[in-house]
Amino acid sequence: MTRSVAVIVGSLAKDSINRKLAHGLAKLAPASLKFDFVDMDMPLYNLDLETSTPPPAWTALREKVKAADAVLFVTPEYNRSMSGTMKNAIDVASRPWGKNVLDKKPAAAISASVGAMGGFGANHHLRQSVSVLNVAMMPSPEAFIHVTPTFFAADGSVADEKAAPYLKKIMEAFAAWIEQQLK
Ligand SMILES: Cc1cc2nc3c(=O)[nH]c(=O)nc-3n(C[C@H](O)[C@H](O)[C@H](O)COP(=O)(O)O)c2cc1C
Repeated sequence: MTRSVAVIVGSLAKDSINRKLAHGLAKLAPASLKFDFVDMDMPLYNLDLETSTPPPAWTALREKVKAADAVLFVTPEYNRSMSGTMKNAIDVASRPWGKNVLDKKPAAAISASVGAMGGFGANHHLRQSVSVLNVAMMPSPEAFIHVTPTFFAADGSVADEKAAPYLKKIMEAFAAWIEQQLK
């Protein structure tokens, strides 16, 4: 069965390695998964803006996540935690109170960094934050991806010979996790 996956990438950078990785993951994933990227350019969460007409980008994020069968988080690491861009998106998705669109969503969290630890700290802080939101996070296999200069091919696909089969396995496990959660 086809499953839709909302992709939340915690970076606004034009050449974001996390966005590149997310597109690479989409290419490696089983054909049953259809990926829809969230536009991350949105105002910081501010209760004062939580009116009957919230910022359009907040509404777009909420609608995309709500409509999706699952969510794929791909996050950079900023100072051993997730980026502010990622945390903001999670905050926006979690409100208004009682309308948390992440509730019960099957999800996977993948981090990528130019650092050797592959954003381990970011990945685990993200898992902690979404746990209170009742996200059905895939516990394993885990992916903390160390992006080296030769990691991506010119067309943006994952060129790293060790990483590509592993990432394919992760996406297969994610597809199976989604089916298990939606049963
Ligand atoms: C404010 C800031 C803090 C960072 N802190 C970390 C860190 O704690 N660990 C790490 O591995 N990389 C850190 N980096 C490097 C990022 O991993 C790197 O810039 C990466 O390319 C960001 O992801 P993106 O290209 O998807 O935006 C930091 C970068 C910035 C700008």
